[in-house]
Amino acid sequence: INKNIKNYNKVIYVSSDKSISIRWALIASQAIGTSKATNLLISEDVLSTLSCLKKLGIKVILNRKQNKCKIVGNGINGFNYKKKIILNAKNSGTLARLICGLLVKSKNSIKIIGDKSLSRRDFSRVIKPLSQFGVNFYPKTKKNLPIKIKGTNFLRPIQFVEKKGSAQVKSLLILAGMIAPGTTTIYAKKSRNHTENFLKYLKVPINVSKKKHYDIIKISQTDRINPINYKIPGDISSAAFFIVLTILSKNSKLLIKDVLTNPTRIGIIKILNKMGAKIILKNKRSYKGEMIADIFVKSCKLLNGINCPKKYNTSAIDEFLIIFLVAAKAKGCSHFKGLSELNKKESPRLEMASKILKMMGVKVFKNKDSIKIYGNPNLKLINDYEIKNFYKDHRVFMMSVIAGLCFGGNWKIHDKDSIKTSFPKFINLTKVLGAKYCWLTKLKI
Ligand code: S3P
Repeated sequence: INKNIKNYNKVIYVSSDKSISIRWALIASQAIGTSKATNLLISEDVLSTLSCLKKLGIKVILNRKQNKCKIVGNGINGFNYKKKIILNAKNSGTLARLICGLLVKSKNSIKIIGDKSLSRRDFSRVIKPLSQFGVNFYPKTKKNLPIKIKGTNFLRPIQFVEKKGSAQVKSLLILAGMIAPGTTTIYAKKSRNHTENFLKYLKVPINVSKKKHYDIIKISQTDRINPINYKIPGDISSAAFFIVLTILSKNSKLLIKDVLTNPTRIGIIKILNKMGAKIILKNKRSYKGEMIADIFVKSCKLLNGINCPKKYNTSAIDEFLIIFLVAAKAKGCSHFKGLSELNKKESPRLEMASKILKMMGVKVFKNKDSIKIYGNPNLKLINDYEIKNFYKDHRVFMMSVIAGLCFGGNWKIHDKDSIKTSFPKFINLTKVLGAKYCWLTKLKI
């Protein structure tokens, strides 16, 4: 990238929500009968979910061109599969972790594998609580993928305190709790609550009592769930890149239509508005237990640094990389704390962010779980910047592209195929807004 993006005034749709797409597929696999999704995210993480479900004996009919999918479930715990199957979650932590919640009664052991990035990520957060249910993992001492999971006939309900604010852990426990006899209780630090919303909508016996800092979730064994038809809304985590592109560009306006704006996901809007942006949610409506809105955003001349309250961390967990770019252009110092989970994502993101910002000449202090960014409202880059060896983390790629489009300089960014995991149309959408690239290798999307 060697050209800044020019001013624009456009309406766009971003790719569909990844968390919802994966949850729809997993939950539909447990229903009795046919569930239909429209606007399903057709990305590698979702395709991996569908292929794992097929291996588990679930009928999946996918129309890739029309983003439509049908899943024919056989009921709770209705998987029917050959001995010695291998489930490949590729890059998807959400898939690898959530699916284990549905395998708590598996008769034969099932091997779960992932790509290089996923294989270095923590799996003890799955092993620990599921072992309490009575589930077995082999080899016994392993804490990451590949690993084998074998269910139990003596499943018991558990009580568990989820302290990380991980929606993946909370969700896998809810799914396991739906299969286990009796009632499972989870004391969960607040995090995205789509699994709860899906199950409430389906009238599964789940009860959530909301406290200030955590939720108490009680989920009881469920006999059957009905099929669920769903039109998947846009992903705020994808919209985030365009929100920031617009804030950092000159004289631009953007309306992003039909985005999922569940309060547990819109931390980025709260943080950026506190920094001086004026992001507005329009046309708000509710849909099957979730909130949807159109997001309006325009360029922002004056941004201020933020001492970011930790209470926003889980609702912006996937957006910090891109928020840090705003901090780099804000007046004064921004401080983000309590972010040890960021280093446990597709790449060690706190480290990656600090490296990229330093490369851009931004003053940064980072320790284990926090980062201070000293912004410069006149930030303009003129040098050469090369971004590589980032574990093919899709969000590092997209953050770097946005930096290249907004701040100037000559950017050479590797691993463009990483966007296929979550936001395949990212590059094309930036082109709609006027971005120009020079390709050093051919892009196949
Ligand atoms: C997700 C939860 C988050 C998030 C991930 C998607 C989900 O992970 O980072 O991209 O769909 O449940 P954690 O639960 O590990 O925080």
